[in-house]
Amino acid sequence: MYHYTEEQLQSMKKVEATRAERLKNLFPRMSAEEKDTVLKENHPDYIESAYETLKVGPNKGDKVLHELADLLQGRPRIRDYQINLDKPDYDVDVLVIGGGGAGSSAAITAHMGGANVMMVTKLRIGDANTMMAEGGIQAADKENDSPAIHYLDAFGGGHFAAKHELLYKLVNEAPDAIKWLNDLGVMFDKAPDGTMITTHGGGTSRKRMHACKDYSGAEIMRTLRDEVLNRNIPVVDFTAAIEIIKDDKGQACGAVLLNMETKEILIAKAKTVIIATGGAGRLHYQGFPTSNHYGATADGLILAYRAGAKLLYADTLQYHPTGVAEPTQIFGALVTEKVRSLGAQLVNADGNAFVYSLETRDVTASTIIRECNKRNKGVKTTDGVGVWLDTPMIEQLGGEGTIEKRIPAMMRMFGKYGIDIRKEPILVYPTLHYQNGGIDISADGQSGVENLFVAGEAVGGIHGRNRLMGNSLLDIIVFGRNAGSNACEKAKTVKVGKLSLSHVDAFEKELAAAKISPKVSSPRILPDYRRKDM
Ligand code: FUM
Repeated sequence: MYHYTEEQLQSMKKVEATRAERLKNLFPRMSAEEKDTVLKENHPDYIESAYETLKVGPNKGDKVLHELADLLQGRPRIRDYQINLDKPDYDVDVLVIGGGGAGSSAAITAHMGGANVMMVTKLRIGDANTMMAEGGIQAADKENDSPAIHYLDAFGGGHFAAKHELLYKLVNEAPDAIKWLNDLGVMFDKAPDGTMITTHGGGTSRKRMHACKDYSGAEIMRTLRDEVLNRNIPVVDFTAAIEIIKDDKGQACGAVLLNMETKEILIAKAKTVIIATGGAGRLHYQGFPTSNHYGATADGLILAYRAGAKLLYADTLQYHPTGVAEPTQIFGALVTEKVRSLGAQLVNADGNAFVYSLETRDVTASTIIRECNKRNKGVKTTDGVGVWLDTPMIEQLGGEGTIEKRIPAMMRMFGKYGIDIRKEPILVYPTLHYQNGGIDISADGQSGVENLFVAGEAVGGIHGRNRLMGNSLLDIIVFGRNAGSNACEKAKTVKVGKLSLSHVDAFEKELAAAKISPKVSSPRILPDYRRKDM
């Protein structure tokens, strides 16, 4: 049970007092100049002291956050003299690393193409950010919409930095991705006549967010997992990939695996490899809490980087505007943007709205940080500070019952602590949500390393330097299927040479030449929450 402090209760009264007026007059949208200014002055991506320059590897000279630099320039967990690469434990056509939505879509598609596929995941299939996604998945499949309009929304929202061929693929293949999921059995929200119910997200000019209430990711993951299991695709769980194996021709041809329970080292040989390891929220960049799954530690970026693949936009992260700020037990958990799509406004300690509810995420998050830190208009919370998200407005706008029907997960999450979001606003603050950057790929899903494919959040460049809501659930499907089908086709012609980890030796020599003594072993695999003072 959460008991609001006296100060919070006083502030909540101010929110209630201004509600009727705010319902009549929406806060105006910002101009491009205002957005630029609020971003530069408040967004964590602009805090220079949080960054350092990489001294080795394909992105030498580029800046990344300290936490990522430590891992990219970290100590490998295995050397080739410790293992026998000539005796693989597994030998498959397509090896998929990662058990989330992108990995599952890739595995299903490669399997459909006739490949002998194996999935390996450090936790279990479905233990992934996909499972935790709430608000929905975008696709321009309504009459008033088109992939071209979807492209413009996403391109602008990403600060015109998306790789054209990737974004083009994303938006054009979106309607088919929805159809694929629907045919597989995903229970999308539908009107009585069977048409899909769609809503707006931040930065969208059309209502194209398809959802399964606010359990969209869980429902999609449930369906994909069933499909993987029904197809009898082998899933090696509780087993982390700790190094990509290359052959003497420089092609990716497998991975070194670590059984998390027995600590046994295993060798998986493959004709093609797909990295689908997801995001990095559990690195808690700049001390932020996260909405991410426990396994989100940027492993794929480390594996690919050491194998010679370039990263794109690894310096840019997404801080979702509305992470839970109170109660402390769910600090940083996601409060879906759909709450704002349905009408809830962001309101400061005095009860005043301070931003149009559906600006793009980076802009909205920056205004919250400004409100709390520069304008001193935040509400004190157990872990710091937050602003109000005025959820009772949803019922007033959409009618009684809207919250229970459209966002039951939110109602349940807060209900566990005695907070009825139909009657009381909730406290929120930005939470680390998404890695905008990642491994650079071409339109066929391949990284700079031959036969090393990438899908999902580990990819950089699909969205540019900021992602719109619902384009991530979309990209895991579009680019998961893309990687699966191309890796399957490629595997039909690949001749694997002699397996080697000589690239790891070379990387270590590069580190030594740059006088870097690695601070940590990498990849990280799991976050470290041990108390540092014990
Ligand atoms: O707010 C949300 O429901 C998150 C969606 C997303 O990151 O796409």
